[in-house]
Amino acid sequence: MILVLNGPNLNLLGQREPGIYGSTTLGQLEDLCGTWAADLGMDVSCRQTNHEGVLIDWLHAAEEGGFTGVILNAGGLSHTSVALLDAIKSIRLPVVEVHLSNVYAREEFRHRSLIGAACRGCISGFGTGSYRAALVALHAVLGPAR
Ligand code: DQA
Repeated sequence: MILVLNGPNLNLLGQREPGIYGSTTLGQLEDLCGTWAADLGMDVSCRQTNHEGVLIDWLHAAEEGGFTGVILNAGGLSHTSVALLDAIKSIRLPVVEVHLSNVYAREEFRHRSLIGAACRGCISGFGTGSYRAALVALHAVLGPAR
């Protein structure tokens, strides 16, 4: 079972800067993740919070909760949060950092990910397809343990 975590402001997908993030709502994205996971023979559970500490609590509890991998779009916290970096370092599960937009084609402050060093890899710039690619990546990384 894969845990898909969306952080701050991603609850507003579909209405938030659609020129950058697209018109798909969070609910639709979560449904798509379920469909893509099923195609790969995987299961997902999707959650969203605007609170850094809640993301950290979910990461800490993920392995004990039976999850085998995490897809994380930490939103703006990706660029600022040492606490989230430390939380990812504290767990054993592979975490794939995702972004809908190509953060390297945007403002300079988005070019650096603070959490990236603790993640297994990063997928950025493919819209909702970033999540699909992350599922494929976890499928490859996890092998039969998925
Ligand atoms: C984002 C990119 C971040 O820079 C931004 O703060 C977000 C969304 C993305 O999915 O493209 O909130 O993570």
